[in-house]
Amino acid sequence: MNKIILLQDKGSVYMDYSFDEVIDRKDSLGLKWNNLDQQFGCEEVLPMWVADMDFSSPQPILDSLKGVLDTRILGYATPPDTLYNAIIHWQKEHHQMELTKDAILFAPGVVPSIAVIIQALTNEQDAIMIHDPVYTPFSTMIELNKRRCIRSTLLMENNQFKMDFEDIEKKLVEEQVKLFVLCNPQNPGGRVWSKQELLTLAELCKKYHVLIISDEIHADLIFSPYQFTSLVTLDPSYQDFVLTLSAATKTFNIAGVKLAMIFAHNPKLYKQIHLYQEAIEHSCLNTFGYVATETAFTQCGPWLEQLMARLEENLTMVCHFFDTRLPQVNYMKPQGTYLFWFDCSSLGLTDEELMNHFIHVGKIALNAGVAYGPGGSQYMRLNFAAPKVLIEEGLKRIKFAFEQ
Ligand SMILES: Cc1ncc(COP(=O)(O)O)c(C=O)c1O
Repeated sequence: MNKIILLQDKGSVYMDYSFDEVIDRKDSLGLKWNNLDQQFGCEEVLPMWVADMDFSSPQPILDSLKGVLDTRILGYATPPDTLYNAIIHWQKEHHQMELTKDAILFAPGVVPSIAVIIQALTNEQDAIMIHDPVYTPFSTMIELNKRRCIRSTLLMENNQFKMDFEDIEKKLVEEQVKLFVLCNPQNPGGRVWSKQELLTLAELCKKYHVLIISDEIHADLIFSPYQFTSLVTLDPSYQDFVLTLSAATKTFNIAGVKLAMIFAHNPKLYKQIHLYQEAIEHSCLNTFGYVATETAFTQCGPWLEQLMARLEENLTMVCHFFDTRLPQVNYMKPQGTYLFWFDCSSLGLTDEELMNHFIHVGKIALNAGVAYGPGGSQYMRLNFAAPKVLIEEGLKRIKFAFEQ
């Protein structure tokens, strides 16, 4: 149970949160823990895959959602000014982003926002560039919307991803790329792109008139000493061609409420996206999303601080385990996110065999690296946002899989 120890600091509710409680998610609709047999062909797997956390969402959010139920009428909702102010304040305080209400659009998710922007601002067969590997729905949205997906493979230096600017520039020109979809911090590798890397990428896109979507959904999940930089804040001119995607859902473990924001500083782009959203009736969204997002940004700062301390501990535990028990396995120590990307090539299996091996031998559900693009081949992604007993069990299962 969450125990209240202190109340009210500038609107934030201080509580001593428990990140040890194992909450039975089998009775919820949670994608991560349910229908494992159908999803993985094995009911007994320990699910450490999709990116939500096995920690309780913050108590102030749960309370505010109960408050919605107490109104007893769940009619249509409209986003209040207090929500806009909460977003503007959070972005300014945490990411030095200057925002006004007329630059904020709501959407039922970050992935739906990518789809809407693709549809509103590009045409069929246009080229859209992404990194490889990167969060799977980037390519899915591009391809399902009949645009051409151009991948620039990330390079590896000291077990961290880095961008290949030569390759990016060559392809921007050759393929006449219209849009770049950036993931910062990077999923699956957990890279927090440096200012210099972001500047170089943005300058290339500016030079060749390429719009950028900067998916910053993991922006609040950063490990010390790394510093997240929101791309659009680097130079005032970037406001013309950068669209930032943000949400409280990943940070505060409320992915199911489905609310995200598009920050469009350029009024012309704002209008185009807004018109498109109206055409597909994306303007009236979920009451719970509005309420949870406002509560997250106004009352849950202390929860986030405690969460980050716990994620740091979990990460130390995972790295120590790999260093001491599986020293032959290379991994990428994430600078942000709660995702751990490790190399399974020492098993000598194909990508398909690898996934099956972890499921049927290790009895653990991870994300297959190859799903993030060809550059993810031979890797697996572990989600370490869970109580320590589950992490310990997961690591045992991974070790067992490596030993067989
Ligand atoms: C980089 C990235 N973008 C977007 C999402 C999902 O966003 P949404 O649920 O708002 O569509 C995720 C979820 O893991 C993600 O990692």
